[in-house]
Amino acid sequence: MIKQVCKTVFKVNNSTFKSLKSYKDIPGPRSMPLVGTLFSLKGFGGEYNLLEFRDFQDILQSQYGNIVKWELFNQKNVYLYDPELIRQAFKTDGNTPHRSLLFPILKLHKKLGIKSTLSNSQGERWRKLRSLSNPCMARPQAILAYLPNQNQVANELIDLIEQKFNNDSNILTYHKFDQILRLLALEYVSEIAFDRRLYCVDEKKRLADVDQLVTSINTFFIQAGRLLFSPPIWKYYPTKDWVEFEQASRYIYKKTGEYIHNAYEDLKNNNTKQTILKEFLIRKDKHGLSTDDVVGLMTDFLMAGVDTTATAIHYLLYDLAKNPAIQNKLYNEINQVVGNSHEVTADHLNKLKYLKCVVKESLRLHSSVPANSRILTEDTVIGDYLIPKGVVLVFCNSNISKSEKYFKNADSFEPDRWMHEKDINPYAVLSFGFGARMCIGRRIAEQEIYLTMIKLIQRYRVEYIGEKPGLKIGLVAAPDRPLDLNFHRR
Ligand code: HEM
Repeated sequence: MIKQVCKTVFKVNNSTFKSLKSYKDIPGPRSMPLVGTLFSLKGFGGEYNLLEFRDFQDILQSQYGNIVKWELFNQKNVYLYDPELIRQAFKTDGNTPHRSLLFPILKLHKKLGIKSTLSNSQGERWRKLRSLSNPCMARPQAILAYLPNQNQVANELIDLIEQKFNNDSNILTYHKFDQILRLLALEYVSEIAFDRRLYCVDEKKRLADVDQLVTSINTFFIQAGRLLFSPPIWKYYPTKDWVEFEQASRYIYKKTGEYIHNAYEDLKNNNTKQTILKEFLIRKDKHGLSTDDVVGLMTDFLMAGVDTTATAIHYLLYDLAKNPAIQNKLYNEINQVVGNSHEVTADHLNKLKYLKCVVKESLRLHSSVPANSRILTEDTVIGDYLIPKGVVLVFCNSNISKSEKYFKNADSFEPDRWMHEKDINPYAVLSFGFGARMCIGRRIAEQEIYLTMIKLIQRYRVEYIGEKPGLKIGLVAAPDRPLDLNFHRR
């Protein structure tokens, strides 16, 4: 049967089929019955530290090569470190790709009685949620409609910075700018998810619970990552990480529930504004979904859209500050295209080619998502191996995208390489994932990042004054120290 599937689906002929190796042959640390590689982990007598996930991936590759088997309890994983292998993996994606589920979030949803959301569902349920979301979230034209509101939010960021300057100075030292970036990202996404402004970056108008909300989202991301990358003791016993995760999540769900409920009431009261939330509520029945499903989707966007985007902007500012010539080149482009205008238009965005290269290059060096995955829904040939259904393929793009094999001067920040994008292997950098299940917030995130950078670099030369950051792995791979900057007025 397996032989027949391989022959038809992968057009594998008899001799190739005979030469295929089996899953068992894939190299990897020694696996024991029931517990798998548990005893290879630090704390259990072994050497690997999953909480340092990037280093862990690098070590596995250096020891075993470009395809590595790793089994923990009943979960079988295969790590892929080669764009060609990743291309083969995505070929089997189909219309309903299965990404590995985030088990801490599954447990939480079960405990709180929440139905699965877009990022944490599979199969038919995922397809329905995605079909409802795609027209509003993934089409460039739909996202451009948000530009005027995003301009307003970015202008508020500039007002906030300007208020901090002393009258007689043209230099401002801003410690912990990363906290402002999280508030900014929350503001951008709240317009979409709650259909309303929270005034996160306006210190006078900011709603009282916003600080706690943004801190809770940050805790959610850090603790979900810690739980995901540690042996699942939390499944049976409420560890400290679990308790913090649950408390933060409860607060997020309580607040988002309130905001969305208010937005829903406004909509019922003849609000004529066309918004994403309204679109979702109008079209939900056609997709067999409920109001609760829409609330779940919005909460998902909120959780997925804050720390990811804030981290990307954090690294981008760091890269530009560390590379003044590149920052200057970007400033010249912005100056030429946008001038002093406070209103960034679709036409401006279209013309800012170098800005897009700068963003791609920063995401190449610092992919915010530590690794992406797919669960095989059928037996599949990857490289020389026939890998059975149910195995999780983990794509190690943060390793590949920093490899000299695929990028000359791989450690350097060189945006110009993206001017010749056709020379770059499309499976080497997958900052937003790939295919039918790629990040649904990609266009929104990119637009937010472009706008923020235009406004900041248009007015200030930025200088980094902190120490070189290390890495803090949660669900997002973020810098382990705050963003301390000098803003020099131009
Ligand atoms: C720089 C910012 C961002 C990065 C780097 C990023 C990255 C990713 C990646 C790698 C995935 C997995 C894709 C795959 O499986 O192929 C993903 C999924 C997702 N992202 Fe993003 N993301 C960002 C911003 C956002 C924003 C702003 C939103 C919401 C407004 C969002 C919502 C989601 C959702 C809901 C999913 C799950 C999609 C699904 O399973 O169908 N993301 N993101």
